[in-house]
Amino acid sequence: MERIEIQGGGCAHCAEKAGTSRREFIATSAASAVAALLLAACGGAQGPSGITGPFSFSVLVSNYPALANVGGIAQVDSGGAPIAAVRTGASTFAAFSLICPHFGCTVGINRSAFQCPCHGAQFASNGTWIGGQRTSNLAAYGTSYDATTNELTITN
Ligand code: FES
Repeated sequence: MERIEIQGGGCAHCAEKAGTSRREFIATSAASAVAALLLAACGGAQGPSGITGPFSFSVLVSNYPALANVGGIAQVDSGGAPIAAVRTGASTFAAFSLICPHFGCTVGINRSAFQCPCHGAQFASNGTWIGGQRTSNLAAYGTSYDATTNELTITN
């Protein structure tokens, strides 16, 4: 029986779902294909924020109807990394990684807040953990808004 140890980069949640911790994640060669699929589903080698290295991207706010009003939240992914934008004022926004700080699942938007489908962590619209599975706050990104072009730029 071939033993394969998954080191770093994978999603601990997926390793946990496979029945053990990431460090102890042992599989036969036949099961390793399943492990690879599980890890890929959780973002593979991405870091806890979902993005490795600096980034900056812009979105047209008009493409996201939920951002038309203050308090609105929309998922504005970039390069496969799940990111949420929150309209906090007429010309102000916040942005957060939707990679759950608990075990790396993709956090969902729940009306005016966030909820992780894996273990139930809940986060306020400002990214602060507010209930469910205890964990840290969502990772926040910088934002800038150009009212003349209605363009929101998100950076880390
Ligand atoms: S991965 Fe466990 S609460 Fe999100």
